[in-house]
Amino acid sequence: MTPNRIRARKGGEPIVCLTAYDFPTARRLDPLVDLLLVGDSMANVVYGFDTTHGVTLDMMIAHGGAVARAAAHACVVVDLPFGWYQESREQAMRSAVRVIRETGCAAVKLEGGREMAETIAFLVERGIPVMGHVGLKPQMIRSMGGFRTQGKTPGEAEAVIEDTRAVDAAGAFAIVIEGTVEEVAAEATRVAAAPTIGIGASASCDGQVLVTPDMAGLTVGHVPRFVKRYAELGEALERAAADYAEEVRQRRFPGDGQVVRLAKP
Ligand code: KIV
Repeated sequence: MTPNRIRARKGGEPIVCLTAYDFPTARRLDPLVDLLLVGDSMANVVYGFDTTHGVTLDMMIAHGGAVARAAAHACVVVDLPFGWYQESREQAMRSAVRVIRETGCAAVKLEGGREMAETIAFLVERGIPVMGHVGLKPQMIRSMGGFRTQGKTPGEAEAVIEDTRAVDAAGAFAIVIEGTVEEVAAEATRVAAAPTIGIGASASCDGQVLVTPDMAGLTVGHVPRFVKRYAELGEALERAAADYAEEVRQRRFPGDGQVVRLAKP
């Protein structure tokens, strides 16, 4: 899967995207999805920070490299983290080049609408495939007034749609739309030539993304209302650890199958 092939899926078979942050998870997800996103949600679900501001470019590169090494099929996209691209288009270019060169991923994602359109165009014109991210932008949580669904008022709805238009015109190969009402997601999807990938934005988008630990039941703490849990891996892990602990305490592990003995003479 390449950014161009993802782009060509506009209006066709829905694009399937999940986040991944490590090699073993990415290996398992890779054959099942079109896109693997190394999201800066890693700050919350892997590192336990309250916001996505806790991750650095070096952290994104370390995890992005692990995911890219695992992927043989999916298009791997790595988030540019807060503070590593907003200052100028040159800063964004330097960060994106490091991410692409040091991870081997296919593309970068950055948050922002009209205010980031010039930066997106600058990167795309210089050979960096970019995925956009509009609607609810977790990196801007302080100025947006919290994790609030965007587009409920006519003014906000217009803003999400205009942001989508701008990011689309700037050349993004796909656009994540997060946390907005169905009507706005549908209109944004209609006006964009690039496919939209929704999260908390209804089925009217061209694809869907979820944070893997959220959908697999591994996340500790709050999980957004729009997440559907497809498994309870956290509970399965607790059960496995409890069984192991009991067997160690009862000296039942290691058992015959796990012990090496000297061969009888
Ligand atoms: O960081 C992330 O995982 C994301 C998705 C929620 C789209 O940006």
